[in-house]
Amino acid sequence: MMISKNISFSLTEYKSVEELNKEDEELVTAAKKAAETAYAPYSKFKVGAAVRLDNSVIVKGSNIENAAFPSGICAERNALSNTASNYPDSKPVAIAVVAFTEDGITKEPVSPCGNCRQVIAEEEFRNNINIRVILCGANKIQVIEKGGDLLPLQFSRNYLKISSR
Ligand code: THU
Repeated sequence: MMISKNISFSLTEYKSVEELNKEDEELVTAAKKAAETAYAPYSKFKVGAAVRLDNSVIVKGSNIENAAFPSGICAERNALSNTASNYPDSKPVAIAVVAFTEDGITKEPVSPCGNCRQVIAEEEFRNNINIRVILCGANKIQVIEKGGDLLPLQFSRNYLKISSR
């Protein structure tokens, strides 16, 4: 018997960064700063990400491209890898993302690619925590309380039949 299912999630939209709480606003500012370190000579699309840890430390990351295109890495994964490597005893609680074209900050918020969504979901799992995702564009800011919501039917360790961490 066929069953149709509907998967949905909620997000909150804001018109400007001033409407965010102070911590999120600070995280967006850090993400903008991070975008300045992007190395994007091929796409000219500079992305900045900033991760807030549960000890309030902010860790930044930007996209670093490569002449061998697939060797490049997104800002979100760079920031989360930095976090996991350098602060193994802290948990990521939020990530802000912002992108710039040659015309400046994008009008619409930029949403993480599938690879990055998968990595956000894994960080949520291993830290047993929800990661708040703050996507910032000039005209709109979107806040998603649980990053894994961005990747329904995500691949998970359950498929690997691994029970211990
Ligand atoms: N990129 C990111 O860093 N994060 C995203 O969320 C989307 C895409 C990077 C990858 C590449 O360097 C450039 O943006 C264009 O795709």
